[in-house]
Amino acid sequence: MQVKFFLNNRPFIAEVSPNDFLLKTLRDHHVTSVKNGCNESSCGACTVLLDGHPVLSCSLLTVRVEGRHITTVEGISEDVKILSDLFSDEGADQCGFCNTGLALAVYALKRELKNPSDEEIKRYLVGNLCRCSGYQAQFKAIVRYVRNEQ
Ligand code: FES
Ligand code: FES
Repeated sequence: MQVKFFLNNRPFIAEVSPNDFLLKTLRDHHVTSVKNGCNESSCGACTVLLDGHPVLSCSLLTVRVEGRHITTVEGISEDVKILSDLFSDEGADQCGFCNTGLALAVYALKRELKNPSDEEIKRYLVGNLCRCSGYQAQFKAIVRYVRNEQ
């Protein structure tokens, strides 16, 4: 069956089975910036934005996104550049596997929460796990991004 949606503001048509999840669909169509970390809704690596809000693509049926807007890091490249520079500046670069999902969650956080406290930032990002960084350097970079301290 065909599912039509918008990927980074461009019309996208995917050939899918009714029980395919969006993570599989995107990766099958060469959108490999969306990572498969756990495939069971536990790590956040597969995060994309659905109409601007973070969702786990490994647990979202592709048929559910018919007509909706999906955003991956390719759709927020200016902010990804800013975040990458801040990560580098703070020494937060490690393997990078979690970075694309985290970048999308942080992008949404900045637009949803006005002047968030450190605790609010941590709570918002609780679903995005990182096995390498220990979070501290990442967190400093994220706080600077959210507060426009570039
Ligand atoms: S791959 Fe989706 S939450 Fe881990
Ligand atoms: S940098 Fe390796 S999982 Fe986060």
